[in-house]
Amino acid sequence: MEKLEKLLSKALEAKDNAYAPYSQYCVGAAVLTSKDNIYASCNVENISFPCGICAEAGAISAMIAAGERKIKAILVTSNGSDLVYPCGACLQRIAEFGDKKTKIYLADAKEVRQTYCLKDLLPYNFNTKDLSHE
Ligand code: THU
Repeated sequence: MEKLEKLLSKALEAKDNAYAPYSQYCVGAAVLTSKDNIYASCNVENISFPCGICAEAGAISAMIAAGERKIKAILVTSNGSDLVYPCGACLQRIAEFGDKKTKIYLADAKEVRQTYCLKDLLPYNFNTKDLSHE
């Protein structure tokens, strides 16, 4: 199976498990790492709305917990009628572990409909050496 197809099927599988009783908006995200592994997750809402977690954040957390650090690509899909663009906070999360060329695929239930680089969606991100202790 093509990597992109696998990425889509993992994101769709996660989307079907989304916990979105408040918005009914189900999102699935799947990250492809530099080691060619895939980590997927869905949005997890909460009755205390700000406690909700985006699908991308969950997928990135799963990648980190597995010991990986580099995002080559991320695919996002939803049950909405329009494509879902990662929110601003998630773009910053992707920037932490990706680079300007990291691919962002937006898909519907069948296929990838738009392909971007992180630079397209987030030309500038918060990134300063002042906070680095290395
Ligand atoms: N959501 C995501 O999972 N990812 C995004 O990038 C945008 C929004 C979720 C959060 C919330 O559960 C639902 O979509 C509606 O905002």
